[in-house]
Amino acid sequence: MSSKNSFYVTTPIYYVNDKPHIGHAYTTILADVVTRYQREFGRETFFLTGTDEHGQKVQQSADQRGISPQEHCDDMVVHFKDAWEKLNIRYDKFIRTTEVFHKKAVQEVLQDLWQKGEIYENEYGGFYCVGCERFYTEKELENGNCPQHQKPPEYIKEKNYFFKMSKYQEWLVRYIHENPDFIRPEHRKNEVLGFLKQPLEDLCISRPKSRLSWGVELPFDTDYVTYVWFDALLNYVTGVGYRQNEQDFKKWWPADYHLIGKDIVTTHCVYWPTMLQAAGIPLPKTIFAHGWWMMDKAKMSKSLKNIVSPLDLIGSYGVDAVRYYLIRDMMLGNDANFTEELFITRYNSELANDFGNLANRVSTLIRKNYDNKIPVLTDPQDEENKIISLGRALGATVQKHVDNLDLNKATDAVIDFIRAINKYLEIRQPWKLVREDKEKTGTVLYVAAEGLRLAANLFHPLMPGKCDELIRAFPVVNPVEKYQWGQLLSGHVLGEFSTLFPRIEASKKEPMPEPKKSEDKAEDLVDFDDFLKLKFKTAKVLTAEKIEGADKLLKITVDAGSEQRQLVAGIARHYAPEEIVGKNVVIVANLKPAKIRGIESQGMILAASHKKELAVLTPDREIKPGAKVS
Ligand code: MSP
Repeated sequence: MSSKNSFYVTTPIYYVNDKPHIGHAYTTILADVVTRYQREFGRETFFLTGTDEHGQKVQQSADQRGISPQEHCDDMVVHFKDAWEKLNIRYDKFIRTTEVFHKKAVQEVLQDLWQKGEIYENEYGGFYCVGCERFYTEKELENGNCPQHQKPPEYIKEKNYFFKMSKYQEWLVRYIHENPDFIRPEHRKNEVLGFLKQPLEDLCISRPKSRLSWGVELPFDTDYVTYVWFDALLNYVTGVGYRQNEQDFKKWWPADYHLIGKDIVTTHCVYWPTMLQAAGIPLPKTIFAHGWWMMDKAKMSKSLKNIVSPLDLIGSYGVDAVRYYLIRDMMLGNDANFTEELFITRYNSELANDFGNLANRVSTLIRKNYDNKIPVLTDPQDEENKIISLGRALGATVQKHVDNLDLNKATDAVIDFIRAINKYLEIRQPWKLVREDKEKTGTVLYVAAEGLRLAANLFHPLMPGKCDELIRAFPVVNPVEKYQWGQLLSGHVLGEFSTLFPRIEASKKEPMPEPKKSEDKAEDLVDFDDFLKLKFKTAKVLTAEKIEGADKLLKITVDAGSEQRQLVAGIARHYAPEEIVGKNVVIVANLKPAKIRGIESQGMILAASHKKELAVLTPDREIKPGAKVS
């Protein structure tokens, strides 16, 4: 954790011509979760989000609707505020770039840069993409098309104003090298450094009003408005008091994280730092670019009409489950595929089976056998001490991962802990033990209940609704010490809470015939080239569950490094789902997907078998999921 006790995080400000979809919701939930964690770790936090309301697209949409751009923005912004409220997002400020304080500060920055000679006037011809609201050089076009929109841009020649970005090229390269955390993850940093190997051009920061009037007017030439990105990026400083309240600004700036999607890396990692440097403002600490949510291998976006609305999902599964799934299933930095099936698998396996089941077991046993009072921990043995020491270490582990923005690992750690408690209960069998030894059973239930309380607290930033309900039910010594083991008060009443995550029954699908087993044959020799056609990778098993009506099959999701996959494996008679979860296995990575019992299987797990025995192959020491096997 940094020495500064304040923590400031931002999301991109969203264009108001889209309604929020999962892609937008993701960054906003991520910022919310990180902020809530940091606040609970004791830091003072500020979370800024908002809307990007100027520019050509807004003007065009307003024209189409026959209303003013401001009216259009006022209408559209409601969708964002409403979605964030329903997603339980607690931002500190929602900034709109059409607000007077922001426009005034933008103009002041422009005036300063003009006076300092950082901005100059020139005649310019370039390829302009309306979708991106930016000029492209000929080199940047793909077959003459805008690389983002795959449509031909317009060639435009006119007088404009330019920011002397090129003069900061060397400085920026040096800065990125000297500040290894400035751009994350590493592959995005390398992408930016690659981009900076080409000569950096000056940035056109004006648009003539004759073409676009919906923007912040240039203070030194009223025939022009400023380029929408120049206006938009400045929200990150104006949103915390820049040029309005220096004390506030000093308190929050520089931002700890600008969270962005991978499509807006150049604007954030090249334009923004050079603008700040020219204006004499320190740079943010980290710009973190996450991947995209994909649907059937395409980026989820309005233009491709493959949008999933977060509000529809909340309607079906509840807000906490949606927050959990989005954070859990995107490995920060990589793309993630969205399917409702994966959502349900994750939900059933981790929320219903692991977390929900633990809560249910603990509360039922305490209610039935201890008059609903927390039992006493008397004589912990080895099995108890294992859980206690895991519990003692868990808060620090989660904090370390959150500080590093590794929310996957933070979530993994809590889920693993919950699984360990469930396993511990299987060993101790308190439902049987209670008939023989009530004191020993009390110890078991104290350990399980205290573990559950701790897990609920550590999951609270992720699932505030359900976890609040749980946390309120547990009597504790001191709520401030919520991440410490041993807070639970014996003899006090365990409060009520509803079933946390009822299982989702997936709609029954047409059963497909089981795949035919190849008959044992004498081994045929193959060419080396044929062997090379197969690609093998390591993959970590994230979830596993039995498939109804197919006693040999497990449905498994794995982390294969750059992506997640779903596999159907014929190992259910040899491995219980919880036994295989967490294992690093080897998969055939380039098999065409096949449907087995109506469920898509994207690859195979390698296993050795002999007569009735079967063992999956695993690397014999720790290695990253996705490592090539050759
Ligand atoms: N207005 C600019 C940002 C200005 S910030 C100073 C903008 N807006 S946007 O609404 O188009 O996109 C906002 C963010 O949503 C981007 O970070 C973008 O990557 C993200 N997403 C849009 N679709 C996405 C997915 N399908 N998946 C994940 N995030 C994606 O760009």
